[in-house]
Amino acid sequence: MTRITVLGSTNMDLVAYVTTAPRSGETVTGHEFRTVPGGKGANQAVAAARAGAEVAMIGAVGTDEFGGRLRATLAASGVDIDLLRTTEGPSGTAHIVVDGDGANSIVVIPGANGSVTSLSHADRAVIAEARSLLLQLELPMSAVVEGAEAARRNGVRTILTPAPARPLPPELLAATDLLVPNEHEAATLTGISGDPQRAAEALLAHVPEVVITLGARGCLYASRAQREPVAVLAPPVTAVDTTGAGDVFVGALAVALAEGRPMTDALTWASTAAALSVQRPGAVTSMPYRSEIDG
Ligand code: ADP
Ligand code: NA
Repeated sequence: MTRITVLGSTNMDLVAYVTTAPRSGETVTGHEFRTVPGGKGANQAVAAARAGAEVAMIGAVGTDEFGGRLRATLAASGVDIDLLRTTEGPSGTAHIVVDGDGANSIVVIPGANGSVTSLSHADRAVIAEARSLLLQLELPMSAVVEGAEAARRNGVRTILTPAPARPLPPELLAATDLLVPNEHEAATLTGISGDPQRAAEALLAHVPEVVITLGARGCLYASRAQREPVAVLAPPVTAVDTTGAGDVFVGALAVALAEGRPMTDALTWASTAAALSVQRPGAVTSMPYRSEIDG
């Protein structure tokens, strides 16, 4: 089976469902509350495992009441958690408001994720054995850079989700094979908003391949090796919860690419996976299995 390593965050998502999200200073009454295991790293790990890969997760949970459930959730989806540390103190938490249109706003508190500042020999060994390393920006930048460089040295494809968006150090960009921002992250990185094609071209100055995800509008792929960017439409569906859509997309994309499928096929397959997930509530709980994606 295809091996993928994820170096990233685990968070407990504390999700409030409301009709209209509160503005600053405003209080609204919601209609439902759920605790859902998440974090961009854990989400991508579960998505990739359910999409059919053998996945190892490097990260950390806390010693609080959430740590055990985060571990159990990853293990239940078949993710190898041997390298998931337990750090004294709280687990990461994400405080999410989902509105009546399925759109979300999120506050992340790193907790245990903040303790992952460097990698062990065992971490680097598991990265070296994988086909792909999936990275996001919810762990300390020092660990993200170390992971990307370890992957690069071993010929492992690095796929970076630049979220939450922030300026990327040159050494991270230099070790990134495929960058997958959503349109907001692409705008933050480039200063170009409302023009994904131009944003993608700007990002190609730093990395060889870029996919900008565009929510219900699908995604745009651009590569240094190819003259024209390729747009892939998202299947038209009724979204109830877009939390984690991007992570499902990246997890599935990584699996398809690691299996050697051509980029356009992989993007279509990832779009199908993400469209399945937005029709169901939650992040991890809504992630589709390979048989559903193949449909
Ligand atoms: P993120 O979740 O990181 O904000 P996007 O919102 O761009 O990322 O969504 C990632 C991918 O998920 C999109 O490229 C698309 O394939 C799929 N997706 C997101 N929202 C929808 C939707 N409403 N309908 C169908 N597919 C969607
Ligand atoms: Na969902």
